[in-house]
Amino acid sequence: MEGSVLERIRALDGEFDAALAGASNADALEEVRVRFLSRKGEITQIMRGLGGLPPDERREVGRRANALRERSRIELDAALAALSGPQDTIRGEDLTLPGRRPASGGLHPVRQVELQLVEVFRGLGFDVALGPDIELDHYNFRCLNFPDDHPARDMHDTFYVTDDVVMRTHTSPVQVRTMEKVQPPVRVVTPGRVYRSETIDATHAAVFHQLEGLYVDERVTMADLKGTLAGFARALFGDRTRVRFRPDFFPFTEPSVEFSFYTEATGWLEIGGAGMVDPEVFRSVDYDPEKWSGFAFGLGVERIAMLLYGITDIRTFFENDLRVLRQTW
Ligand code: DAH
Repeated sequence: MEGSVLERIRALDGEFDAALAGASNADALEEVRVRFLSRKGEITQIMRGLGGLPPDERREVGRRANALRERSRIELDAALAALSGPQDTIRGEDLTLPGRRPASGGLHPVRQVELQLVEVFRGLGFDVALGPDIELDHYNFRCLNFPDDHPARDMHDTFYVTDDVVMRTHTSPVQVRTMEKVQPPVRVVTPGRVYRSETIDATHAAVFHQLEGLYVDERVTMADLKGTLAGFARALFGDRTRVRFRPDFFPFTEPSVEFSFYTEATGWLEIGGAGMVDPEVFRSVDYDPEKWSGFAFGLGVERIAMLLYGITDIRTFFENDLRVLRQTW
């Protein structure tokens, strides 16, 4: 008796496999289920008969019948699932093809140039300092020797937030913030966004970027300023680049200059403003103007980016045209 039940289970094992292999649609699978697992199914019958077996045989037969029942349930479920869901998602796809590469972002061209400029000045021994875009009038103007009602303020077409708070019109306030925090010698560059209430055209934007530089030590001269800017110019545009100063006016430098670079490809190009730090600025941060001297400069990052990339309209940088952006990814 025992032998024949175990034999029957072993036979059912094979019969189930054969039946499952022959079932290619949901109806056929249901037939297999009924044949083996329903209340009158073959496996169920064997489970029912367990009670009539002697206890020590019952164990072995029960274990095997149970294993077969579990296996057939699992395989039926899997076969049913394979008919629908998963097959739909891979139907018609060639799984050996390489995947689609998701689009990835990159650094904006202006940001890349900014990093490039900062790298040059790092090489010359400058640190980086940052300041807030929303700035106190105190730092944006007053400490930089723009007295209240001074006409030089008009040069800046300021966006006012309140009477005392402005969108910074230049990165020069970070000079003051830096000097308030550290004692000389100071060597910093300050990249950042600045804001002017400008009419926008090919060479003017209301939001653009500047790079500011500040160098304070004992006995700093215009020659140091010129040497530093010449080193910068050569690193950027090549060894034959020349630097020119022409007189200008800024309230926070004395004397003040505008500086231009000369390259064979472009001729003379105005790059930015510079000068020797005005003693009034040193006094506003409690540096002794008898002991310390320094130079400062500021330049437009977009202007340099336009030169490097041959771009003639500054708005190109702000329209987020992917054909432009992708070129520097
Ligand atoms: N802040 C000036 C501007 O935006 C540029 C400038 C001129 C910066 C002279 C300086 C400087 O540090 O010394 O027009």
